[in-house]
Parts: sequence; C-alpha cells; structure tokens
Amino acid sequence: MSTTSISSIRTPFYLYDTDLLQQTLAAICAETEKYDNYHVHYAVKANANPKLLKIILDAGLGIDCVSGGEMERALEVGFSADKIVFAGVGKSDWEINLGLDNNIFCFNVESIPELLIINELAAVKNKIANVCFRINPNVGAHTHANITTGLAENKFGIAMEDMEKLIILAKSLTNVSFRGLHFHIGSQILEMDDFVALSERINQIQDRLDSENIHIEVINVGGGLGIDYQNPNTNPIPNFKDYFQTYHQHLKLRPGQSVHFELGRAVVAQCGTLITQVLYIKQGSFKKFAIVDAGMTELIRPALYDAYHKIENISATKNIRLTDSVAAVESEETYDVAGPICESSDVFAKGISLPMTRRGDLLAIRSAGAYGETMASQYNCRPLPQTYILEELGQE
Ligand code: LLP
Repeated sequence: MSTTSISSIRTPFYLYDTDLLQQTLAAICAETEKYDNYHVHYAVKANANPKLLKIILDAGLGIDCVSGGEMERALEVGFSADKIVFAGVGKSDWEINLGLDNNIFCFNVESIPELLIINELAAVKNKIANVCFRINPNVGAHTHANITTGLAENKFGIAMEDMEKLIILAKSLTNVSFRGLHFHIGSQILEMDDFVALSERINQIQDRLDSENIHIEVINVGGGLGIDYQNPNTNPIPNFKDYFQTYHQHLKLRPGQSVHFELGRAVVAQCGTLITQVLYIKQGSFKKFAIVDAGMTELIRPALYDAYHKIENISATKNIRLTDSVAAVESEETYDVAGPICESSDVFAKGISLPMTRRGDLLAIRSAGAYGETMASQYNCRPLPQTYILEELGQE
C-alpha cells in the first residue's frame, strides 16, 4: 500500500473512489438480475481509465464503444469481444475490420452506405457481421440541447421511415446478419417519462414490424440515465431501480428478445473527483476569483455545456474537522472559480460560496468521473491529467 498523501501529489489530478464504483456496479447488477435477458454494456466513452475498466469487467458488464481506440482499450483490459457493441456515425474501414477480426457482438449501423461497407469488408474476410440498426426515434429528452441525440434533426441514426427498406436490404446481403434495433435519446436524463416515451415508440415500431413479419432478437435502448450533480454526498448512486423497472413495465418484449443498455455516466460519474490547487485569490472590480491550476483542459464540461459540478474546499473542511470548534469555522465568501487557460469560458463555477479560501488550498470538483478524463486535452501544451485511486493513498 502506497503512503502517498493527497496533499503531496502534484495537482491537478483525478482521484477515483473505487469502493463507490463497486457499490454502483453492485446496484446495477442487483437490479438487472431481477429481469430476464437484460445486458449492460458500459459506454467506455464516459471513462476509459484501465483501472476502472478492470473493475467494470469484473462486475460482468460488456462494452459499448464508438471508436477503434475504445475497442482496443476494452480488448486490452480483457473484455470479451462477444459483449462488445460498436456504434458511431462515422466508422472508418480499419475500425470495422478490427470489429470483424475480433467477432464483436454487434455493429450498430447508422446508414445505408455504412451497411454496404460492412458487408463488403466482411465478405473479404469471409465473415458474417452481426448488425443492429440505430433508429432515430424522434423522441426528445429533457436535457441539455448538446447532449440530446434522438430527435429527427440530430445526425444520429436512421430515419424511422427508412427502417423496413434497410432491413430488407440487410436480409439480401450475404455477409451481414440483421439482429435488431438500437436507440439512444440523450444523456443526463433524470425524468423516467423520457424512457417511457422511448419504450412506447419502440412498441409502435415492433407492432409495425410484426405486421410485416419481421422478427428482431436484440433491442438496445442505449444509455442516458443521469446523476445528481447537486448532491454527490447524499445521493452517490443513481436510481437504477426506477430506471430498469421503467423499461420492464413499458417495453413490450416478444419471446426470446434480449434488452441491452449502454450506461456510461451513471456508472462512473460520482466516483471521480478532480483535485486542484488554488493558485491565487484575485480581487476583480466587483467579484473575487479563486484561480486554480486545473482548467477546461482537465474538465471541459462547465465550459462546453455550462455544466454544474459541486466544488468543495477540502483544505478548509479538514481544518474545521481537526479543530472541531465552531469558533474555528471561518465565514463563507463568494468566488468565481476559474482556471489558467487562455479562454474566457475557462470557468468552473460563478458566484459560488466557499469557506474563506487561500492560496494553496485544495478544491475538489465533484462528480467528474464521467466525461472528465476522457475529454481532457493538451491545449496550451498542458500535460494530460494524472489519476490516482483513493483507496491506494495513505491517510493524511
Ligand atoms: N450510447 C450511445 C449511442 C451514446 O451516444 C452515449 C453517449 C451513450 C450510450 C452513453 O450515454 P450516458 O449513459 O453516459 O448518458 N460529453 C457529454 C455527454 C455525451 C454523451 C454522448 N453519448 C457530457 O459530458 O455530458
């Protein structure tokens, strides 16, 4: 066991709580075990850190990937190819070949030209590729406009009116095997009614296909379950019970069908924290800035989507706990917490209340386990963030 303490590590860095990840996975498995033929493929785009992937593998989940790089990462960690689904509107030939060479469970196909290329590349290898069609269900999700995907205006999926045409085409091709349908309406969805709407749309589609004697085996409903960014301490595990129950109650399955889920954020968001150090407290003309050493290069969500992440001053909290005296609790101040990157949007939070904050204090930017490390960049020639596992660090 390492004796490194949090305050001796160079900031900024990601800190992962793998106990919480394990509890989250246990909650997912407890719910899916209640239903026949429910399979979860972890959406590796949310976080591809090998240490976390190993834990997700051990819990028995499969993988949803959207690039050859993600597929390689999943295979390196040990995920079995027969639990890998591969989606994406723009699959390159080498990525399709990688999927074919490894005999992945399914390609989620997003267009006719893509279907024809998969058939062609599979023919060269004398293989038959399993394909599902990603259908754009034209179902809105109550979430940020940049992360809704299931509307007719979005670039994703195949229009419902073209579905039969594609299925008939797939059945006529010799090197693809049509297995079912795939959907994904968006991300950070907290209203179960959105998943009800998707289930109802799938029911309509299935009725239509039944009347044309088309049977499907696989129904993949995508991911999208949201998390509580406001209250990571009191609500660390998403509501998997309601999520899976919603599908169980509303999705009408035919005999032998399996239901597949592609959860990303809900699996890993709460187990990750971005730790950053305060460099300067700067008094502006009408507000105070806490300038920190992490920026949009480590966590782009606030800059890109105006996303909220709870921020805690863990140095101040620690002092309060150590002295255990009400008198020692310093007054709160209002800050904009901003990074060092040369962009005005490089701000993690505006006008938030923190205990009096000083140079050298460590801030914890919470719920950063999903779409944090994976979206990091090297803008301004910054190094990619280091990562640590909470359980491997010694106590302060
Ligand atoms: N399946 C498909 C086809 C997807 O496009 C996505 C996410 C997922 C599954 C996983 O969705 P989740 O369960 O994580 O909601 N960078 C944004 C989120 C983009 C989500 C893209 N697709 C953010 O930071 O909020």
